[in-house]
Amino acid sequence: MRTIIIQFGGTGDLAVKKLYPAYRNLMGHGYEFEVLALGRRYKNREEFLKETIDKEAPKSFTDHLDYLFYDTSEEQAVPNLIASLTEKIKGSRNVHFIYYLALQPSLYEDAIHQIKEVDNALSCDCKRTKRIVVEKPFGFDLESAKRYNRILEQAFADKEIFRIDHYLGKEFMQNILLMRFHNDIIRRIWDNRTIESIQIIFDETHGVDQRLGFYEKIGVVRDTIQNHIMQIITYLTMGEPASLTPGDIAIEKVKVLKSISPIEDFHMGRYESLGATSGRVVQTPTYGAFKLSVNSYDFANIPIYVRTGKMQKEPKSLIYIKFKNMTKQVMHNEKIADNSVIITIHPELTIDISMNLKVPNTSWESKPVRFRFSQSDTFGANTPEAYEQILEKILLDDKSLFPTMEEINEAWRIVEPMLKDDIPVEVYPMKTLPRLVNEIAEKNGFEWFD
Ligand code: BG6
Repeated sequence: MRTIIIQFGGTGDLAVKKLYPAYRNLMGHGYEFEVLALGRRYKNREEFLKETIDKEAPKSFTDHLDYLFYDTSEEQAVPNLIASLTEKIKGSRNVHFIYYLALQPSLYEDAIHQIKEVDNALSCDCKRTKRIVVEKPFGFDLESAKRYNRILEQAFADKEIFRIDHYLGKEFMQNILLMRFHNDIIRRIWDNRTIESIQIIFDETHGVDQRLGFYEKIGVVRDTIQNHIMQIITYLTMGEPASLTPGDIAIEKVKVLKSISPIEDFHMGRYESLGATSGRVVQTPTYGAFKLSVNSYDFANIPIYVRTGKMQKEPKSLIYIKFKNMTKQVMHNEKIADNSVIITIHPELTIDISMNLKVPNTSWESKPVRFRFSQSDTFGANTPEAYEQILEKILLDDKSLFPTMEEINEAWRIVEPMLKDDIPVEVYPMKTLPRLVNEIAEKNGFEWFD
């Protein structure tokens, strides 16, 4: 079987930084496929390879990487692509096309129409199968997500559509499910009888940089909250699936998303130099913080506080699960620390369980002690990157790490109030936390796990 990935957005940031290294590794592991990168930035393959691919890259990878100048707005684009693919598949008996859209959501509609045109026009003496891969955010809001999906489904069956959220390829995400559902002791403490609150903190040190063109139309809500953050929340609070198969997991995730009421307590910020070099004022929010709750029997009344955004002083990605502390009251001792589970994602994956144990040479004095799992200490440092795991699943035609359309629609419904144009946006100096982060903590009477 001849597998050809047709990479829309083939010169973009995502393709260059994440996809090509992952393709290279997968080819190194024996996967056989070719990539046709489509883009406007370079005139020809030589220029493309020179500018985007590491000079040390093995020939076995670059030989399978081709480039076609492709401007969606040009009439000649589709006929050129048809000609290039027709030439490629000449003489092949089984051909598998994977159309991969790594584009601005505003370009999706045109691109999907073009793919339909290309696909209809292709003919060969071969057996042809196809898949389409669509990057997040899937759509621009609920309405456009549904519209894109309708267009997609005119040309592709649902089983042929892969909607990406690369967080589902991350070890920490998969570990949340395993930790919760492969451990009796965790299962028994993971609900509103025991958990007091949850914090999800995703502070990034980098800014929007060369992605301004993409980001300014998107903003933090569409970039990470509607997808990565909502997926994390579903993993933390979904009910036990009948099995850890994609279908059973999706059923539970949708239930969670449906029980989240619209977010009310939300705030937005933007770092002050955003777009400064572009010569125009860019108002797009780069930071968001909010509170929500999952109104299911097991998780109602557990506030989930989220903060996430760019241009922060320290990289901080963690999930902090704080347990109720009845012990203070029972032992008449206010100094007894809270128990917690801390899942740290950067700089490396660790999971800590914090418990109180005795300080030596004291009379019943305890102190919080952490029991730590470290991914690299236990399993070594070579965990594949999220994108590699995701792409491998696509090549294997396995849909276990992809959100369903129903999840995507529900996530849009939840974040919709945060997408309005008239929400005040606090301007924060670079490398500082916006004031809104403390405001939400003060208003709700909690402290961030800093
Ligand atoms: C991407 C967003 O989906 O996720 C980026 O577009 C964000 O803005 C990134 O920085 C975070 O992913 P990771 O894998 O670096 O945690």
